[in-house]
Amino acid sequence: MKIGIFDSGIGGLSVLHQALKIMPEHQYIYYADEKNVPYGEKTKEQVIGYVDEIIQFMIDHGVEAIVIACNTATSAAVKIMREKYTIPIIGMEPAVKKAIDLYGDYRVLVCATPITVNGKKMHDLVDRVDKKNLVDLVALPQLVRFAEKQEFDSEAVKNYLKEELSCFDLSQYHSLVLGCTHFNYFKDSFRAVLPLQIHFVDGNLGTLNHLKEYINANSLLPGVEYYYSGQKVEGKELMRIQAYLDRLDRMINIE
Ligand code: DGL
Repeated sequence: MKIGIFDSGIGGLSVLHQALKIMPEHQYIYYADEKNVPYGEKTKEQVIGYVDEIIQFMIDHGVEAIVIACNTATSAAVKIMREKYTIPIIGMEPAVKKAIDLYGDYRVLVCATPITVNGKKMHDLVDRVDKKNLVDLVALPQLVRFAEKQEFDSEAVKNYLKEELSCFDLSQYHSLVLGCTHFNYFKDSFRAVLPLQIHFVDGNLGTLNHLKEYINANSLLPGVEYYYSGQKVEGKELMRIQAYLDRLDRMINIE
């Protein structure tokens, strides 16, 4: 299967990197929007425009599923893109639920870009999963700029992290959510400024598991092409057909 993965820049390579390890049997296109990075400091409308262009590019290049390896682009645009396109679009969001499931007796610090931190999607997620009011959010946009310059563990990076995290009592936290794919490059620098009880949590594997679920569902339709009134059935609609086939599986032995 040909899969398109994209990000504003090199952050999404952390998702591709893991995809190549756990799903090496697929073909990939990786698209970094180097012309427009950083997304996190743009307006939501600008990001929607960039994402729309990339999805069109991916479709023109024959991909069968798209992974938005960017929390910011997902926050700003996934809903509207899913309404516009039929191709399956797997988005990503900061792994707040995972952090609460794993370390939910302690405070959780979520780091992301300004668009993600201020977005409705983030606030809806926190309202849904943070029943004990343990989650705090912090925007670290400068890390995206450092990552794009390949500057990962300089004194400037560590000083930036110290400065931005200085208003939190870090002894209260047991997890730090890497809510931007660019932040995966800085685990060593974070480690140097964080107390040892804080664990990293990211959403890369969760995102790829969603992709796998989609692929598994569709690989249950071997060798069949479906048409609705002359139009080839693609994308999400195939999952609907799969649901019918699953039901027929359950019906077959009822007498
Ligand atoms: N890597 C992106 C994310 O996961 C955003 C970086 C940017 O600001 O462009 O949110």
